[in-house]
Amino acid sequence: MTAPSTRPVRKRIGRKGGASDREPGVTTPRVRAAGDDRPRAPIRTRGLTKLYGDLVAVDHLDLEVQAGEIFGLLGQNGAGKTTTILMLLGLTEPTDGQARVVGLDPARRPLEVKRRVGYLPDAVGFYSDMSGRDNLRYTARLNRIERDEAEDVIDEALEQVGLTARADDSTDTYSRGMLQRLGIADALIKDPDVLILDEPTTAIDPLGVTEILELLRTLVRDRQMAILLSSHLLNQVQSVCDRIGIFSAGRLIGQGTMGELAARFGEDSAHIEAEIEPPADAGPERVREVLSAIPGVTKVTSRSIHGSTTWNVTVKPASDDARVRRAILAAATSTGLDLTSVRPIEPALEDIYRRAVERAAHGHARDVR
Ligand SMILES: Nc1ncnc2c1ncn2[C@@H]1O[C@H](COP(=O)(O)OP(=O)(O)O)[C@@H](O)[C@H]1O
Ligand SMILES: [Mg+2]
Repeated sequence: MTAPSTRPVRKRIGRKGGASDREPGVTTPRVRAAGDDRPRAPIRTRGLTKLYGDLVAVDHLDLEVQAGEIFGLLGQNGAGKTTTILMLLGLTEPTDGQARVVGLDPARRPLEVKRRVGYLPDAVGFYSDMSGRDNLRYTARLNRIERDEAEDVIDEALEQVGLTARADDSTDTYSRGMLQRLGIADALIKDPDVLILDEPTTAIDPLGVTEILELLRTLVRDRQMAILLSSHLLNQVQSVCDRIGIFSAGRLIGQGTMGELAARFGEDSAHIEAEIEPPADAGPERVREVLSAIPGVTKVTSRSIHGSTTWNVTVKPASDDARVRRAILAAATSTGLDLTSVRPIEPALEDIYRRAVERAAHGHARDVR
């Protein structure tokens, strides 16, 4: 049921005078009291734009991140990810457009937004001569959490990020992954509805990355947070995010689930991989003939490793994928081919990303508004 390293987390520890015990789902969808309300999408932007001189760092960004999801802002260096995050936190002012974070305008109410949003910058800083626990106590004091309550909240956060055993060691003995986890614990002290992480896994080793990503999934599940993370690392975004926004030169050029992005930016063909050996009295050409004869198959290639042959079958349109897999099974049986496996190949975010960027550059390039 629950992950071994986590115990159930109380929701809304220490929130003072807020909308803490409002029933979920009873908020009025349209009319909301200003400020102290929980909107459906804890992060929303409309036409959010930031210019640095002539440079358009963020260009009319429309974004929504829901509670209970991890949204990945994916883009190369300089795409505008950090600038977007700084505007969401009220740390830099938009040139145009607006943002709402937990229902608040960060440009007007930056302090309240900071109080309710956990933020992990790309370089986490802690007092290195203090223990992890003391660093969190410092944060608790800054957030005016009472002492007794703070100790509980701190224990809980340390437990959740798996740092309990090292909590009283000074942070200059921590690995980068541990510092990153302490950064997440630090963000959890405020019991935020929203967690924003800027390139959270860039500087840590692969094992640490897996831990951090699993931790984020746990937080979304246990606390129903909305998590926005930025990254230039495709495989990490693909593995942890529910939805992905492809960001290029300040513009969001596509967003959705992997499936939605694949449908929009894919080549509208699917790929199937099958391991098939020809019958004893025929060569590989026989397999190629059988596969090529299946309706919907547009291309057949093969490679042999250690005497077994893997076939890659291209299917168009992509929606014919399942039908063609069944047809391959049936054809192998009726023609006496030795088929040991047949499976769909997941589209890679890398291909989708490349196509989205190409299409944005060639198609409606820089439609200046
Ligand atoms: N304070 C600043 N002044 C001028 N230009 C900036 C500033 N911050 C960022 N930029 C520029 O804005 C663009 C987006 O930067 P940034 O948001 O840091 O991208 P990312 O986080 O995706 O790497 C880049 O071209 C960057 O050089
Ligand atoms: Mg950045």
